[in-house]
Amino acid sequence: MSAPENKPASKLSDLGVTQPAQVAPLFAEVRARFDGEVTKDFIEVLWKEFRDEWLGRKSGVLAQITNNWLKPATPDLKPAIGAALNELRAHVEAKIEERRVAIEKSEEEWALSRERVDLSLPGVVRPVGSHHLIRQVFQEIEDIFVSIGFSVVEGPEIETPYYNFEALNIPEFHPVRDDMDTFYLDLPKGAKTPLLLRTHTSPMQIRTMEKQKPPVRVIVPGKVYRRDNPDATHSFAFHQIEGLAVDTDITFCDFTGTIEYFVKQFFGPSVKTRFRPSYFPFTEPSVEFDVSCPFCSGTGTSAAGGTCSKCKGAAWIELFGAGMVDPAVYGFVNYDARKVSGFAFGIGIDRLAMLKYGIDDIQVFFQNDVRFLRQFP
Ligand code: FA5
Repeated sequence: MSAPENKPASKLSDLGVTQPAQVAPLFAEVRARFDGEVTKDFIEVLWKEFRDEWLGRKSGVLAQITNNWLKPATPDLKPAIGAALNELRAHVEAKIEERRVAIEKSEEEWALSRERVDLSLPGVVRPVGSHHLIRQVFQEIEDIFVSIGFSVVEGPEIETPYYNFEALNIPEFHPVRDDMDTFYLDLPKGAKTPLLLRTHTSPMQIRTMEKQKPPVRVIVPGKVYRRDNPDATHSFAFHQIEGLAVDTDITFCDFTGTIEYFVKQFFGPSVKTRFRPSYFPFTEPSVEFDVSCPFCSGTGTSAAGGTCSKCKGAAWIELFGAGMVDPAVYGFVNYDARKVSGFAFGIGIDRLAMLKYGIDDIQVFFQNDVRFLRQFP
């Protein structure tokens, strides 16, 4: 089917219109063409094209009628053409506005229908992660100590030498500092004190006692740092839990009883514990706590008959350092050493987790390989 002829593009004389009576049928033809097109389905962009096609100032159909029919019309024809053109313009403008409103409304409805939430659809399943094994072990230990009256406190990982060493009875040039070499922060010249990454959670003993009068019963989970070369049992960043109990009547029996309770809760009732003399400048006496090897039930022999690979046949595994708080430490926190006594311990969490879960390389805790992490949901 050929496109309808666009008569407004031609002059009246070319269309053979010379009498006023011919004007009405001519406009009726244009109007019929418009009415045929205006009811079509438009999306918004096409609607704008259509509007310009009819109302465009320079070359729209109505502009063509003005230029080709009205302006050059003879005085006989002009009134009829003028009146018909006005009527046609009113009709075209009203219809085009009507379509604009209808198009906008239907687009809004469409957008609304797209946004509507279908509550009957199944939800989006998002994979949920789990706590890192170290976090799980922290939680396990915290639960045990909280159940016997300890509270959990945390402290800064960036410390001053005073809290990390001096107030713990480790003066400058004390040989113990060699075992706890750490990372110092670059500070602007003139800084009041050097700052370092804490080498243990023990500074929180001091910070807690500075703030709190006895009785004190806290545990301190946290990250610590040392300049140790990484290997299967060493990392330059690792985790500890500090424990501190101070009161007027705490004895060595309270100390061993508490530790034994913890170890049995953590490893199971059949493990045995022992302690050996050790040395820390901030505890006196100091001990190392050992547990009977949970892998060979303290026999030193594996189930297959050979030497137990975990305790290397020793039947015991070293767990952590501890001791009765050295009276010298009380001097740094204004406690009366004649009236109070207490105990402290510092557990290396990474090695404890390795022991409990049979992990033979500490580095896996820091590599965050999901194949490892998924084994501890
Ligand atoms: C201390 O850090 C003392 N503050 C513990 C303490 C607290 C004693 C309160 C007495 C009273 P030690 O340097 O032994 O002690 O470290 C404690 C534990 O941290 C060790 O038993 C070990 O499990 C762990 N540890 C030490 N160095 C590393 C390392 N580089 N990587 C992983 N774990 C480590």
